[in-house]
Amino acid sequence: MTHECDIGLIGLGVMGRNLALNMADHGFSVGVYNRTAEKTREFIEKEAGERKIRSAYTLQEFISLLKKPRAILIMVEAGAPVDDVIEGIFPLLEVGDLVIDGGNSHFSDTNRRGKSLAEKGLFYMGMGISGGEYGARHGPSMMPGGQKEAFERVRPILEAVSANVNGEPCVAFLGSGSAGHYVKMVHNGIEYGVMELIAETYDLMKRRLCLTNDELHSVYGQWNRKELNSYLIEITTKIFQQPDDKTAKRLIDMIVDQAKQKGTGKWTSCEAMDLQIPTPTIDAAVIARNLSTHKTEREAVSQMLQGPKTTFRGDKKTFIDHIRGALYACMIITYAQGMNLLQGASEAYGYGLNLEAVARIWRGGCIIRAALLENIQRAYENRRDLVNLLLDPHLGQEVMERQANLRRVVITAIELGLPVPAMMVTLAYFDGYRSAWLPANLTQAQRDYFGAHTYERIDKGEGFHTEWGRV
Ligand code: 6PG
Repeated sequence: MTHECDIGLIGLGVMGRNLALNMADHGFSVGVYNRTAEKTREFIEKEAGERKIRSAYTLQEFISLLKKPRAILIMVEAGAPVDDVIEGIFPLLEVGDLVIDGGNSHFSDTNRRGKSLAEKGLFYMGMGISGGEYGARHGPSMMPGGQKEAFERVRPILEAVSANVNGEPCVAFLGSGSAGHYVKMVHNGIEYGVMELIAETYDLMKRRLCLTNDELHSVYGQWNRKELNSYLIEITTKIFQQPDDKTAKRLIDMIVDQAKQKGTGKWTSCEAMDLQIPTPTIDAAVIARNLSTHKTEREAVSQMLQGPKTTFRGDKKTFIDHIRGALYACMIITYAQGMNLLQGASEAYGYGLNLEAVARIWRGGCIIRAALLENIQRAYENRRDLVNLLLDPHLGQEVMERQANLRRVVITAIELGLPVPAMMVTLAYFDGYRSAWLPANLTQAQRDYFGAHTYERIDKGEGFHTEWGRV
């Protein structure tokens, strides 16, 4: 019984259980351990069946199940639980063993843990996994980073269990250190951005175009058949048809309008601010979730602060086409912002990221998978050093062709008094980015005026200060 398992898995939550089954179904033997023994017993009795899954009820027993050098996948909640698990197995590990954190850990924690394990000659891999329960069971997108030689060791397992698009696995070694968790963080930032953009299209069509849930189902369904084809549009389509099992209504209308978050979107925004890389669509998405949580206050304020409440009076079909174009343009720009952040981080932290590989492994299994990613992958295939996705001739053209749609939608939303923060800032980003001149000269002058911070001249360079106001 000892030393027979190809891989060990700690944490039998939803993701851990399904990954264990997925790995076993692909012929790998898996040793499993969970802090609460009852969960392990239940998993073995009810789910594991005849598969090559061995259970352990102490960490010593668990470690002894694994082939050497060991590979251990930790699937517990990010934060302190990961440190607790590492602390528990640390004394039992031997030089050359590999520990993989498959949760949504903050990349700075991954750096810290990697460093401390390396001191004992252990390998550490931070690996983002996307796709939720279904993905874990049938093929997620996996984003590993760390040491390449450690990745090579578990590569056959990861390639077998990950999603597959046109024969290509949705897993690739992404880069050194915490690259994997960083990429997953930005994946989630893009996820926040696209979800907010879709929510804004819903808001417009529900509150101002007065579409029913059936009509919304039909609109998103049509959109999903063309350029907007993506997992998030697909589930949105289905959501509008879901009946509520407690009332005669649709479930969507029984759900409170307050969005929670675990924090990965906020991490992305904070990181982007630190690296001074603009990701306004993602920032707006985080802010929109934050604002949504102030429900009681919003209800009170809605009685006090009035604005336009008129319904849309134009041609609905034409306007829905504008919304569709606007959404696609915004989606491209959101991915562009995320990719830009990855590029900046790769330089700042020396990750050595290959953005073509990132786009490739996001095409399947993950939450932000979309037909658009094929074009994004191609853009990086054509030019590895592409500065911004908007500079790819095809994607740039797609946005240019739809900018009139986006402007129309934003103007209309403003007139109708409806908040579309993500669309507004996405358009502003587009207009700012394509602007050779921005009014930052005035900002420089003001800083120097009140704080003697100096300014840079267009003719003589940096370091100038003026005693302002003496004319
Ligand atoms: C995924 C998801 C997954 C999870 C998010 C939800 O890629 O499978 O992103 O990681 O559902 O953490 O994040 P929020 O709770 O912050 O919305």
